[in-house]
Amino acid sequence: MEPLPADQFPLMGHLCQLTQELSTTQDEDYLLDRILGQARSLLGAEAGSIFLARDGALQFTYVQNQKLFKGSNDLRGNSMPIDTSSLAGYAAYTGGPLVIADAHNIPEDKPYSFNRSYDDSTGYRTQAVLVQPLLSSQGTVIGVLQLINPLDEAGEVVPFSPENQGLAGFFANSAALALERAVNQRELILRMMRMAELRDPKETGAHVNRVGGYAAVIYEAWAKAHGVPPSEIVKQQDLIRVSAMLHDVGKVAISDAILKKPGKLDDDEYHTMKFHTVRGAQLFGEPSSEVDHLAQQIALRHHERWDGKGYPGHIEDLFHCSELGPGKISEEAPVAARITALADVYDALMSKRTYKDPWPEEKVLGIIKQERGAQFDPEVVDAFFKVYEEVDRVRGIYSEAAED
Ligand code: C2E
Ligand code: SIN
Ligand code: SIN
Ligand code: FE
Ligand code: FE
Repeated sequence: MEPLPADQFPLMGHLCQLTQELSTTQDEDYLLDRILGQARSLLGAEAGSIFLARDGALQFTYVQNQKLFKGSNDLRGNSMPIDTSSLAGYAAYTGGPLVIADAHNIPEDKPYSFNRSYDDSTGYRTQAVLVQPLLSSQGTVIGVLQLINPLDEAGEVVPFSPENQGLAGFFANSAALALERAVNQRELILRMMRMAELRDPKETGAHVNRVGGYAAVIYEAWAKAHGVPPSEIVKQQDLIRVSAMLHDVGKVAISDAILKKPGKLDDDEYHTMKFHTVRGAQLFGEPSSEVDHLAQQIALRHHERWDGKGYPGHIEDLFHCSELGPGKISEEAPVAARITALADVYDALMSKRTYKDPWPEEKVLGIIKQERGAQFDPEVVDAFFKVYEEVDRVRGIYSEAAED
């Protein structure tokens, strides 16, 4: 799409700032919320929703309506077919926008009609509707943006102007690209997890799910104790869960002879094994999103110890690293890595490995208490014990037996 000249367009500065923000935001859920909020504020629309194309249908994902409620409503699960019978379906099916002056008075000869059930159940009166398909860079429909009832200065509903229609098109274009990137990112992460699982089916399957689950639960307790706002906790918790699941992804670079050795590793083998931290971090290259960045830090730092006796330590150049150590101390490693360190060891000790039997729970919990302030961050240990019931529940959900 040709960029529009700024001087011909009073809103252009505002628009550039919005699209810039979208291009640096990666988390899919957060993006949907932002896209909808920004599109509504740009066009002065009272309400709006986003549908995503999934499995050949349109799925209702977010609804915002400033008259009925604050923030977003998550309506996941409701879906409609991609055909010409509904407004959103029509835009998805044809790949073009649709502008309706009054949803309750659509001429009989149109193929589409307005579904009144939402208005009927809420008492809201949908009038002017603008439906804009979200197209990927390949031109496939990834979703639909629907904006409702633009208000004038007096708060009266007015029709969508041609200028607004142009704006919506431009905005939908950059929003779609940002969304596409987030979806690709998620798929890339899932591919990496499957790759790691393929290399080491016994260890990674249930282990990654458990470590991710423990890390999310421990983080929540830690963050509450640190006064982190609830909305931030929810967002970070999700990022940490996904990133912690990738903590051992660098083991794909370790040979089977070491990775699957039934007995104890000798010093050389153990030294080689320690590079799974660096190899994992290398897989994320130059991290371009929050989840990439966090996953890289966790892969690199999950074997650091609070007392500095861990590895890989102070690395100058991630891509030409041949030396390990000295280990990082205390807060030199990010909190997500300190949390994953505990979650990983707890799980390793509680589980059977090719090189060890599971340990009794009291013994494991005893070691963790004993290592408070030595191997582990004391505040992370406190958070762990505060929510141990939940940790234990996560272990039950992802037990090896449940996997089969
Ligand atoms: P992992 O099996 O996921 O273990 C993660 C961490 O849990 C270990 O990091 C260690 O801190 C702790 N851990 C596991 N088993 C024991 C244990 O029996 N005693 C104690 N005190 N701690 C334990 P570490 O040592 O850096 O090892 C990293 C990875 O290297 C392990 O991941 C595992 O894949 C491999 N590895 C370590 N030691 C051996 C071994 O003796 N034989 C084999 N085959 N692999 C080993
Ligand atoms: C992403 O940030 O793109 C996906 C992370 C998630 O699954 O929450
Ligand atoms: C080793 O020296 O083989 C590793 C022992 C451990 O699990 O810490
Ligand atoms: Fe590891
Ligand atoms: Fe591990």
